[in-house]
Amino acid sequence: MDLSVTLGRLQLKNPIMVASGTFGYAREMEGIVDVSRLGAVLPKTITAEPRVGNAPWRTVETSAGLLNAIGLDNDGVDAFLEHHLPYLKEVGTSIVVSVAGRTEDDFVKLAERVGSQDGVAAVELNLSCPNVSGGIDFGTNAESCRKVVAATRDRTDVPILAKLTPNVTRIADIAQGAADGGADAVCLINTVLGIAIDWRRRKPMLGNGMGGLSGPAIKPIALRCVYQVATAVDIPIIGIGGIADIDDVMEFLVAGASAVQIGTANYYDPTVSTRLVDQLPAALGEIDSDSVSAFIGTLNR
Ligand SMILES: Cc1cc2nc3c(=O)[nH]c(=O)nc-3n(C[C@H](O)[C@H](O)[C@H](O)COP(=O)(O)O)c2cc1C
Repeated sequence: MDLSVTLGRLQLKNPIMVASGTFGYAREMEGIVDVSRLGAVLPKTITAEPRVGNAPWRTVETSAGLLNAIGLDNDGVDAFLEHHLPYLKEVGTSIVVSVAGRTEDDFVKLAERVGSQDGVAAVELNLSCPNVSGGIDFGTNAESCRKVVAATRDRTDVPILAKLTPNVTRIADIAQGAADGGADAVCLINTVLGIAIDWRRRKPMLGNGMGGLSGPAIKPIALRCVYQVATAVDIPIIGIGGIADIDDVMEFLVAGASAVQIGTANYYDPTVSTRLVDQLPAALGEIDSDSVSAFIGTLNR
């Protein structure tokens, strides 16, 4: 069985990755998950400065998913490079570092700094957060998306992944922007904007008011985004959203994703990602396939 996949200039030993923000900096999973077996690990998004994130509550369980408004709580790039990257380099799989900035320049500088480090296989641009400084949201405007990807691509040799938000009218337009900017792949999707309300207190439950919905509730939305982009844009896709079992993985692959990221499921089933690696060969065997690549995007329409 050939489980390897290629995403632009990024090659992975298998298509099962863990999603940023749901696996800490990987150290937290030591002794629980054999991280070396995964296709890649994505630590929590880092920013130029450390951030404490939003006021509590920051997560709320809803009837069919998790709503969060963490607010990019992270240790900042200096601590990441000094403390977390040396550990991550030794875990035995590809490390994709997620970065976020307020401005285009922030993204470029972070990607340049992180991307030049030994042991970083790719940089994921978290374009799913509003750019407060210029009032532009990189992930909701195709031209802003193209520009920030192109600027980063110009200044670093590392493969660039663009992670997009589903909270847009036409996600294929934004993905086209990322492709035009030279992204190696697009990652679809970040969380779906939502709100939870405590009617007795007449207040939103999250400190931030609104938050992002994740988990099995959003799988059909994520799968639809992958499907729409796969049919309209010529760029490798990483599928994310509600993936919890091997059938979910196979659905994303056949719809056009070349790899997948496991997010919320890590919280309630921490070893799910390595189990999916174990289950992949048998699932491919069911359709008489001996390679993941041959199965990607083969949906009959
Ligand atoms: C608690 C929590 C924190 C997250 N933090 C980040 C983050 O720092 N950067 C990022 O790009 N996505 C972040 N995400 C989004 C996930 O990476 C993923 O895109 C999303 O949750 C959908 O996948 P899922 O349904 O499998 O969780 C976070 C999600 C959750 C639930």
